[in-house]
Amino acid sequence: MKKVIVLGASGQLGKTIRSITETDANNFVFISKNDLDITDKNKLVSFFESTAFDYCINCAAYTNVEGAESNVEDAFLINAEGAKNVAEVCEKYQVKLIHISTDYVFDGKSEMPYTTIDQPHPINQYGKSKLLGEQYIQDHLKEHYIIRTSWLYSLFGKNFLKTIINKIENDSVLNITTEEEGTPTSCVELAQFILYIIKTDNIPYGIYNFSANGSATWYEFAKEIVINLSPEKKDNILSTNTFKTVAKRPRYSVLNLKNTEKNYRELFTWQQSVAKIIEVYKNRYSSDL
Ligand SMILES: NC(=O)c1ccc[n+]([C@@H]2O[C@H](COP(=O)([O-])OP(=O)(O)OC[C@H]3O[C@@H](n4cnc5c(N)ncnc54)[C@H](OP(=O)(O)O)[C@@H]3O)[C@@H](O)[C@H]2O)c1
Repeated sequence: MKKVIVLGASGQLGKTIRSITETDANNFVFISKNDLDITDKNKLVSFFESTAFDYCINCAAYTNVEGAESNVEDAFLINAEGAKNVAEVCEKYQVKLIHISTDYVFDGKSEMPYTTIDQPHPINQYGKSKLLGEQYIQDHLKEHYIIRTSWLYSLFGKNFLKTIINKIENDSVLNITTEEEGTPTSCVELAQFILYIIKTDNIPYGIYNFSANGSATWYEFAKEIVINLSPEKKDNILSTNTFKTVAKRPRYSVLNLKNTEKNYRELFTWQQSVAKIIEVYKNRYSSDL
């Protein structure tokens, strides 16, 4: 079995990976920011020195898109310099890296799903810092997988799906933007793809896109969550096209999944994935509903 280190393990993707690898726990080492800050290269070295890892999954990132506009230095320190540290240490100890990147490396001007060879052109600081991280990894380590994903959600941490569930359970009426088109992605499905890469151990290195199939606006995503959760409250979701954000957002950031499906399997539609997670949520919390 492969020995795997997961960085940024307390985030929603890290927690999801932990939750689906419980039966294989001996082969996974989950490290949170408190125990290992990826901007601390010496500490990274000491972790990699102490155990012979086969794979590193880097879930660590500065993910606050709005915050990155004013905390530019922090975003670049973690998403670019941190990613570079991880790549350099992986290179030194011959560890294959699976790094998570974002649809926000694109400017959103396309009218067709972005392929992995389309030219990135980020329009906010988060996207710029993530793109520089990708470039550092490509420069420093051949054995890498960079997975660009979008609109991640799970039942862990803070994310759009959980916000909508909480607000709807409190009977709020919500105005949700129709101004962006992208694809919601279940952390469980992304985690399964990551584990597939590790298990298969012969997928070509490089950049992969990963999301569900299809596209939606945030308004359509919210509506679908409510239709599955409490259909009688679906009119609580209203659309707006005047949503203000500090960071510029790509108007369109749908990812082309053809190469991923060729190397993996056909992906679910985003509606199928939302239905699945709401079912899990209802089963888990049915006594509260
Ligand atoms: N969320 C999305 O919609 C989305 C979309 C596209 C791509 N992505 C990418 O997907 C990956 C996983 O995202 P996520 O949603 O799981 O994010 P998340 O929940 O915010 O988790 C990120 C984790 O990284 C940790 N971290 C921050 N700085 C660190 C450092 N210097 N050293 C080590 N750990 C550090 C954070 O710890 P603290 O919380 O303690 O700071 C947090 O536990 C990221 O690379 C993100 O850029 C996310």
